[in-house]
Amino acid sequence: MLIQSLNAEQMGVLRDRRSRLAARINFPVLLWSGATPSRNFPANKYPFRASSHFLFFAGLPIPHAVIRIDGGKLTLFVDDPTPSAALWHGPSPDREAIAAAMGADAAFPLAELPNHAAGAATIAVQHPGTVQAQSYLLGRSLPPAHQIQALDPIDGKLVQALVALRSCHDGDSIAEMRRAAAVSVAAHKAGMAATATATTEAQIRAAMEAVLLSHNMTPAYNSIVTVHGEVLHNEASHHPLAAQDLVLADVGAETGLGWAADITRTWPVSGRFSAGQRSLYSVVLAAHDACIAAIQPGVEYREIHLLACRILAEGLVDLGILQGKPEDLVEQDAHALFFPHGVGHLLGLDVHDMEDLGDAAGYAPGRVRSDRFGLGYLRLDRPLETGMVVTIEPGFYQVPAILENVEFRAKYNHCVNWERLAKFGDVRGIRIEDDVQVTATGAEVLTAALPTRIDAIEASLAGA
Ligand code: GLY
Repeated sequence: MLIQSLNAEQMGVLRDRRSRLAARINFPVLLWSGATPSRNFPANKYPFRASSHFLFFAGLPIPHAVIRIDGGKLTLFVDDPTPSAALWHGPSPDREAIAAAMGADAAFPLAELPNHAAGAATIAVQHPGTVQAQSYLLGRSLPPAHQIQALDPIDGKLVQALVALRSCHDGDSIAEMRRAAAVSVAAHKAGMAATATATTEAQIRAAMEAVLLSHNMTPAYNSIVTVHGEVLHNEASHHPLAAQDLVLADVGAETGLGWAADITRTWPVSGRFSAGQRSLYSVVLAAHDACIAAIQPGVEYREIHLLACRILAEGLVDLGILQGKPEDLVEQDAHALFFPHGVGHLLGLDVHDMEDLGDAAGYAPGRVRSDRFGLGYLRLDRPLETGMVVTIEPGFYQVPAILENVEFRAKYNHCVNWERLAKFGDVRGIRIEDDVQVTATGAEVLTAALPTRIDAIEASLAGA
């Protein structure tokens, strides 16, 4: 286990986060980092990813560790490395070195944990074996953290405190997200550059992920690099590229300290958008640009989503694909035939930040998901606040599971000109996604260095 040390400024940021937690709660908190699941036999592990709540306060991704935070003080519980670890994994820092690297106030072996667990709140991590250990230590069953109503009251209070602290980012988090964004932008440029000679999706994906790895970062989520953009989370990369295809690349980096970027671009394999691709891309881009322009503190994110829906509906009416008044089409959710997801989500340590807590972070208190076709996948429904980072990612998709669905066809038949739609057969999926920081006066696009305009994308593909 090799770790980096945090500098004095970073340790100060962590201390500040712990003090802000102390100001919100009056009980101790235990946060587990988690452990690495094995693949096909115990020693063959998936890469370790620490719990984001642990990372937020501890700063460093230490496996098999627990932190206790009480009154702003941090105590680390972790065991010293075993002798065999040195053989297989090289020299590893001991407990005192790790404690010093993260600025802990005290450190103990894990065996001491039961003496410090009384009255503590926690959050269940994603690793099932660790959840068992959490539950055993605290003497109560721990439901998954997204089952908010089922949580022990003290854990529910911790969830509220975490949401309050993690929703708006401090300067250190923003700096980390800028690093992730810069590397992700470079990855997308490399993907565009690789397209001229690539023959499969996998070759473009490899060029993009190579950039992440060369900066010692990892993908923040499974990369989507596909000519089948209509499959919203298409993680397969085996398709060959055809000249008339659009590549949809949704690839974002995660820094070593866990902070994410999330970018999508869509570009033509041939280097030039066809007339139909150009028209639909322009509609999606208009929605993207209008949403970003509308971002400022106090604005309801749901309104940003509905703005995207209206602009998409207007554009599709102008192209003759939808028929009717755009506002009526949105009211009926007809736009969702082609844009079935929400316009974005919170971004931070998780690509969908704090989604382990269900909708506790994404939805303002008292709000619940709509059962409307056009709103049900909206992941964020609360007023924007200075310091939040959100994605803006409108899209247009021809999803067979929607467009060939008998009920949808019957319900929306009068809204869709199917003959006209057939003229856009070379557009399966378009998404344009950027990461946007809400500032006191509006918004800053953290991923602005990556072009979105058609001429700039074509120039990038031509190697300009
Ligand atoms: N970019 C991947 C996602 O938002 O799920």
